[in-house]
Amino acid sequence: MTRIGILLSGRGSNFVAIAEAIRDGSLPHVEIAIVLSNREDAGGLEAARAMGIPARAIISKGMKRAEHDALMIQALRGARVELVCLAGYMRVLTPDFVGAFPGAILNIHPSLLPSFVGLDVQQAALDFGVKVAGCTVHFVDEAVDHGVIVLQRTVDVLDEDTTETLSARILVEEHKAYPEAIRRVVSGDYTAVGRRYIRLT
Ligand code: GAR
Repeated sequence: MTRIGILLSGRGSNFVAIAEAIRDGSLPHVEIAIVLSNREDAGGLEAARAMGIPARAIISKGMKRAEHDALMIQALRGARVELVCLAGYMRVLTPDFVGAFPGAILNIHPSLLPSFVGLDVQQAALDFGVKVAGCTVHFVDEAVDHGVIVLQRTVDVLDEDTTETLSARILVEEHKAYPEAIRRVVSGDYTAVGRRYIRLT
């Protein structure tokens, strides 16, 4: 069993998708050891508690980033977490945090990286006029939205799309992408060769 820790800041629909994939057997050999949020009002915390999964807020407001990250690391280590999954965690990690879990932090981002890093990326994709959009699950390194890509899923951009409709269609793909990416990472069947994350033959 690989013990994963979920970090989130909001509604937590990606967390729920991962939890459901574990429950229905499509994401085997994984258990969610803890859900942590930097906000007490994150809907994802409530969802975790309703599922009987340990969930805690470590409030970041008013705290120095290094201090907050140290508390997060402590909580993750206390729960014996082996793989950290950022699921709508809207904070940039310090190098100390990244170094505490080498090669063992994943993030999901609602664009086809390396296009559109940062925030409000679905609107940025529409503004740029792209015809294909999507989501990316990637390892986290010290640069924002930069680490090795595990997988991507795409959606067509429609002429009538708004940020809301495009975001909703990308989110449907996110919910498929994240459990599949975790499955690949914990399977031991894949490896990074340079920046390419490929299946071992
Ligand atoms: C998701 O769309 C995720 O890709 C995005 O936040 C949303 C969280 O939704 N993450 C980022 O933008 C990180 N840069 P959720 O709370 O329902 O999972």
